[in-house]
Amino acid sequence: MEYDINDPSLAEGGVRHVEWADQAMPVLAEVRKRFERERPLAAVRIAACLHITAETANLARTLKAGGAQVVLCGSNPLSTQDDVAAALTERYETPVFARCGEDDQTYYSHIASALSLEPNLTMDDGADLVTTILTKRTDLADNIVASMEETTTGVNRLRAMEADGVLRFPVFAINDAMTKHLFDNRYGTGQSTVDGILRATGVLLAGMNVVVAGYGMCGRGLAMRMKGMGAHVVVTETDPLRALEAAMDGFEVLPMDQAAKRGDLFVTVTGNAEVLRKEHFLKMKDGALLANSGHFNVEISIDNLSELAEDIVRQVRPNVDEFRLEDGKRLYLLAEGRLINLAAAEGHPACVMDMSFALQALTAEFAVKNTADLEPKVYRVPEDIDQWVAQLKLQTMGITIDKLTERQQQYMAGWQEGT
Ligand SMILES: NC(=O)c1ccc[n+]([C@@H]2O[C@H](COP(=O)([O-])OP(=O)(O)OC[C@H]3O[C@@H](n4cnc5c(N)ncnc54)[C@H](O)[C@@H]3O)[C@@H](O)[C@H]2O)c1
Repeated sequence: MEYDINDPSLAEGGVRHVEWADQAMPVLAEVRKRFERERPLAAVRIAACLHITAETANLARTLKAGGAQVVLCGSNPLSTQDDVAAALTERYETPVFARCGEDDQTYYSHIASALSLEPNLTMDDGADLVTTILTKRTDLADNIVASMEETTTGVNRLRAMEADGVLRFPVFAINDAMTKHLFDNRYGTGQSTVDGILRATGVLLAGMNVVVAGYGMCGRGLAMRMKGMGAHVVVTETDPLRALEAAMDGFEVLPMDQAAKRGDLFVTVTGNAEVLRKEHFLKMKDGALLANSGHFNVEISIDNLSELAEDIVRQVRPNVDEFRLEDGKRLYLLAEGRLINLAAAEGHPACVMDMSFALQALTAEFAVKNTADLEPKVYRVPEDIDQWVAQLKLQTMGITIDKLTERQQQYMAGWQEGT
């Protein structure tokens, strides 16, 4: 078994880390138990480009329990948990190509190595694997039964591929399932982004002016949690509906041009490029902190920052780089502008990844069973899978809910009864 990781000797701690996450992932464990009995993924070769975290290790264990052959590569150069990578290769017999801190060239060479499995099913977090197949390994495309996509930015890219007519196999937008984005993006990113910022900087959020760029699922969760920590939160948006929602949720809404002067801490979560750029940096206060929790490191223009600082940059703490501008003003970039919750903390809590990864495993099973009916386009996760995950999650949380009576079912389905 070939692999490339930082330190195999970390395996023992990695196993404890994976087991710790596992006890907070009861829905995925239920899927794993059934997969062990039924082996629905026998003969499936899965290449997965995901953040190499303890939760991902539990997904890999589940896919293997279903009979699949699995290889993993990281979906971000800074998000790999090296102990987990070691546990996967040394204890869970799963090849991993990922090193925390790898450069972009190694990142792509790791994707190439994962593809040497010649997968017939793929999983992505950001669509880099599918993009590589469609541009550099087109020979693999015909054999791919389906691909799963974990995040908003990946789904956006895949929809653009579909619109351009270049998508060659079916793709499932895991992100768009209710039990994914309502919880993972909102509560997972909300909390873990705060966690990453605090681990990197140790600042007091109470009383701080925090600017959240983007009021989508992630931005809502983040703004809510920042407010809960006592920060004064300003939201910036480009979509009128989202801006209105932020305003009615009680946040101040400003264009970035004005927010730039106010913020002590800026966090981008838009999935867009150059949300913070030269014109904003020039207006910022001395000491402003800049973080990103969107998928790619393009939301804060590092080129503009470097230009303004004439490359006068020094690392003042792990994950904190100081850019000193000509006039002496200092701006601090956290985690190289990469997603702060995974680069400086541990990503989402396992409890929330439980649902996202149960969806991944169940949708993979669905895709394999329904190959004949699928076309090269972006599909939603089937509603019954979403409902099953929600039901079981509630059950594992000890929450019971009411059932519709027969009379209620008839009423809801009818139109005759009015005033
Ligand atoms: N850090 C993580 O662990 C994590 C988890 C889930 C998703 N993500 C990533 O976070 C990003 C956001 O995801 P989401 O689900 O919230 O997406 P979303 O589409 O629900 O929300 C993004 C919001 O940003 C707004 N926006 C776009 N350009 C903007 C700009 N220039 N200024 C201000 N607002 C702008 C959009 O109008 C939209 O409301 C994506 O890149 C996604 O892949 C990260």
